[in-house]
Amino acid sequence: MTEPQIAKGLAGVYADTSRISKVFDETNTLTYYGYPVQELAASCRFEEVAYLLWHGELPTTEQLKKFEQQERKERKISPKLLTVLRQFDKDAHPMDTLRTAVSFLGTEDPEWADNAPEANLKKAVRLLAQIPIIIAADSRLRKGEEPIVPREDLTMAENFFHMYFGEVPQKEVVRCFDASLTFYAEHSFNASTFTARVIISSLSDIYAAVTGAIGSLKGPLHGGANEAVMHMLLDIKEPSKAQAWIDDALATKKKVMGFGHRVYRNGDSRVPHMTKYFHDMAKLKDGEKWIEIEDILSKTVIGQKNIHPNLDFPVGPAYYLMGFEIPVFTPIFVMSRITGWAAHIMEQLEDNKLVRPLAVYNGVPQRPVEPIGKRKAA
Ligand code: COA
Repeated sequence: MTEPQIAKGLAGVYADTSRISKVFDETNTLTYYGYPVQELAASCRFEEVAYLLWHGELPTTEQLKKFEQQERKERKISPKLLTVLRQFDKDAHPMDTLRTAVSFLGTEDPEWADNAPEANLKKAVRLLAQIPIIIAADSRLRKGEEPIVPREDLTMAENFFHMYFGEVPQKEVVRCFDASLTFYAEHSFNASTFTARVIISSLSDIYAAVTGAIGSLKGPLHGGANEAVMHMLLDIKEPSKAQAWIDDALATKKKVMGFGHRVYRNGDSRVPHMTKYFHDMAKLKDGEKWIEIEDILSKTVIGQKNIHPNLDFPVGPAYYLMGFEIPVFTPIFVMSRITGWAAHIMEQLEDNKLVRPLAVYNGVPQRPVEPIGKRKAA
C-alpha cells in the first residue's frame, strides 16, 4: 500500500468549490464575486460590500436603502448582554470578550436552530449590526466609561466611531476605516473561514460557527497580526532604530509580523491601496515616523527574503493613528469579516457535507489496558 500524502496545514489542498472570492494570479488581485477589492474600496461603502457578499451582486439604490434600514434597526443589544459585558475582567482580551458575547447572542435567539437561508441571512444582519456595538461598549466599560447608544442616521463606519469615541471624525478618517473594512471582509478558505465552514458542516448554527471563527482569527498568524504589527512598530520606536532592528530580526530568524501570506507569494494586492490610506492617516495625525519605519522594514524584508507585507502591515498603524487601542484591532477585523464568514456559512449549507479529514496514525500499536496498580509509570 502506498503511504498517504499529508498536506500539513492543508497547504495546496482544494477542500470545496466557492463562488465568493478569488485571487486572480494574472492580475494578483483579490476579487469578491469578480469585483477587484480595491475598486470596491474606492467606489463603495462597506455596507454595499456586505450586501454583495450575501447576495452575489452589488445593490441598487433601493436595495441598499432597504438593507441599511434592516441593519440599522438591529443596532441594539439586550440589557442582559450588557450585564454580561460588565462582568468581564478589565484585562480580558477584547477578542475573548467578543467571542463570549457572540456566543451569548446565540442563547438569546429563539431561531438559533433555523438554518434556512433566509433565517441565516436575518441572523447575519443582526451579527453585522451588533458586533460593533459589543466591541465599542466593551472598550468603553473597561475604561470606566458608559456605552454610547448607537445612532441610526450614521453609516456603519461613522456609527462605530460615534459609539467608540463619542464623535465622528473627519471624512478622511472614516474613509480609511471604511476601506479597511472592505479589504478585511473576505478571503476565501482562510483559517477562520474554514473553521466556520467546519463548524456549520455538522449542521450546528451560525452563532457557534462565528464564535469558533473568532477564536481562530485571534491568533497572531492570522488576524492577530494587525495588533502584533503595531507592537513591533512601538518596540522599534524611531526610524533611526529600524534598520538595526530588522537586520537583527532576520539574522535571528524571527517572524516579522505583517509579512508573508499563504496565498500571495508576490505581494498582497490589497497592500498598496491600504498603504495609501495609511499614509493619509499618518499625514493627518502627525504620524510620518511610522511610514519611515515601515518603509525600512519592507525594503529590507523584500530585498533579503523576497517576503512581502500583507494587509495587516498598513492597517495596524492606521488604526493606531485613528486612536483605537491595540487590542481592539482584531475585533475590528471581526466586525468586517463577519460578512465573509456568514457568506461561507450559507454557501456551505447549500451543498453540505460533514468536514471530516483523515490522519495518518503515528502513535503506539494496539495494546491491552493494564488494571490500575499494575501500570508502570511512563
Ligand atoms: N518573517 C520572516 N520570515 C518569514 C515570514 C515572516 N513574516 N513569513 C514567512 N517567513 C519565512 C519562514 O520563516 C519560512 O522560511 P524557511 O523556509 O527558511 O523556514 C518561509 O518563509 C515559509 O514560511 P511559512 O511560515 O512556512 O509559510 P506559510 O505559508 O505557512 O505562512 C504565514 C504564512 C502568514 C503564517 C507567515 O508568513 C507568517 O507567520 N507571517 C507573520 C504573521 C502574519 O503577518 N500573519 C498575517 C497573515 S495575513
